[in-house]
Amino acid sequence: MPESSRKPVLVTCGLPYANGTAHIGHLRTYIPADIFVRSLRKKGIEVTFVCGSDTHGTPIVVNAEELGITPKELVEMYHKHFDETFKQLGIYFDAFGTTDDPENHNRTLDIVNKMIEKGYVYPKTIEIAYCPKCNRFLPDRYVEGSCPYCGETARGDECDQGCGKHLEPGELQNPICAICSGPAEYRQQEHFFFKLSEFSDYLMDYLSNDLGGTTNARNYALGWVKQGLTDWCITRNLEWGIKFPGHEDLVVYVWVDAPIGYIAFTEEWAAKVGDSWEKYWKNDGEIVHFIGGDITYHHCIFWPAMLKGAGYSVPTAVVASGMVKIEDKKFSKTRGYVVWVGEDYLDQGFHPDLLRYYLASYTSHTKELNFSWHVLQEKINTELVAVLGNFLYRTILFASKNYGKVPEGELEPEVKEEIEKAINGVKVAIADYEFKKAVDAAMALASLGNSYFQAQAPWKLVKEDKAACGNVLYNCLHISKALGIIFEPVIPQTMERAWKQLGQEEDLHTVQYSEALVPIKAGTKLAKPEILFTKLEDDLIGKMEEIANQRIKAANAKKYIGKGSEKEPSKSEGMLSAEEATKLEKKNS
Ligand code: MSP
Ligand code: ZN
Repeated sequence: MPESSRKPVLVTCGLPYANGTAHIGHLRTYIPADIFVRSLRKKGIEVTFVCGSDTHGTPIVVNAEELGITPKELVEMYHKHFDETFKQLGIYFDAFGTTDDPENHNRTLDIVNKMIEKGYVYPKTIEIAYCPKCNRFLPDRYVEGSCPYCGETARGDECDQGCGKHLEPGELQNPICAICSGPAEYRQQEHFFFKLSEFSDYLMDYLSNDLGGTTNARNYALGWVKQGLTDWCITRNLEWGIKFPGHEDLVVYVWVDAPIGYIAFTEEWAAKVGDSWEKYWKNDGEIVHFIGGDITYHHCIFWPAMLKGAGYSVPTAVVASGMVKIEDKKFSKTRGYVVWVGEDYLDQGFHPDLLRYYLASYTSHTKELNFSWHVLQEKINTELVAVLGNFLYRTILFASKNYGKVPEGELEPEVKEEIEKAINGVKVAIADYEFKKAVDAAMALASLGNSYFQAQAPWKLVKEDKAACGNVLYNCLHISKALGIIFEPVIPQTMERAWKQLGQEEDLHTVQYSEALVPIKAGTKLAKPEILFTKLEDDLIGKMEEIANQRIKAANAKKYIGKGSEKEPSKSEGMLSAEEATKLEKKNS
């Protein structure tokens, strides 16, 4: 079956919380997803790529409150930031909405109403954390305590420091108010529950037999299903969010309306281009979710149960990445182990493609990924500069100096074979979400190019037999063209420059893999060669390491001053006390 007859594929990325700026941890969801999408397009498969900002939930309300602005103002600011950052990194979504868009309000109401109609939602009076001093109920992020499952420090709705399990209201032990740090108590209130427990058998079967993607996601979720699922409280006492039907004082829990954003953004895309969103969500198009491993529970348990309950299509695949660490330390904004995409990277003049390359090629997608400035330097200098960049530059330079255009020649069968091998290697690896293997297969072709160039010694041959030398260059230029195509998904901006230097006029981003086997046209005029990758010098890397060290020191100093007014925009470590942070640091060091 030709690949292009595969069903259309919807690819989504875990929605960034619109309450802080982009960091390298985020990119491990977005960059591999973008590579995947570009690669599917190169196979001629129809793809729709959607994402948007996650705008509801308590962290956003807490942060807006602190800044003295409305939640809407806060999320507008960060929504714009993420939208711009993604474009700078070469990540182009077909739709990038927000979960506060009318499309998402409507779709959420539809799904919640369907779940109610089918009898999957029921009211129940439960214990909710309440702060007698602040005089308010404390949903989710407003309360901290310890996880009843593993004992680690946790927040109201998630064991973010320990086992990663979702926590229901009332489950957290020793609750403390996150606003005043005083002890919280539990008080009774009526909420609405989704009958998640009724989906146990369904999920067991779905996770074991139907769900594709990475095995880490399936296995993690299966583990929880086997332990038994409890019903899920889907309402919260908040003003900001999507109102629960018929109850003006309640909104739906953010993890209800956030994934529904995937559908709403598909609708936004469909309306814009005159296509159908139902082909993904009501029919048999494929749905592939890219996420970080931290939100597996929500994507492999809650989300398919909701979709099934409301009569929508369920995900075909969940691709969960390992988490990003900084200089071998657990990612932590409060402790200074963070690399900001803007101020630490793009604003310092680093090219986006270098980071794309690093994140794709460092290790297998499901493993933890360590970011280190030193490793970045080494990878860029010994791989992109010394192998790929070197081959492309010496080929185009030599050819343009001596021939000015692509000389006459014939593709040698062994060269063709190597290209076929590389393309297949890349395709198979990406289909398995093995981005590192894909990059390795592509880089092997660049290495082969260098060896071929070296062995044929065109700088000698040109003096002896210009036509034979032309044939060598013809083959090198063809390898270069193939490299442009197979590296495009990983480093799109730089490969576009190489493509132009090779005199190619088609749009590289829409050219398919099959084109890499179509011999380059003799006589094509070559453009002036320019160096594609420059070495990262010790000075620059030293400066970046210094910035990182200063940040860690400053974070340490602040920790001892107390909580201060800084609130974490992230979902992790948001409100650790100095004591807890020290405890954690000891544990992790
Ligand atoms: N808003 C939720 C996702 C809702 S999806 C319906 C969220 N937001 S986030 O801003 O915290 O993260 C956005 C994406 O980045 C998620 O896919 C998340 O898993 C990923 N990552 C955020 N920090 C990360 C690391 N340190 N390492 C790897 N990926 C992580 O979660
Ligand atoms: Zn736990």
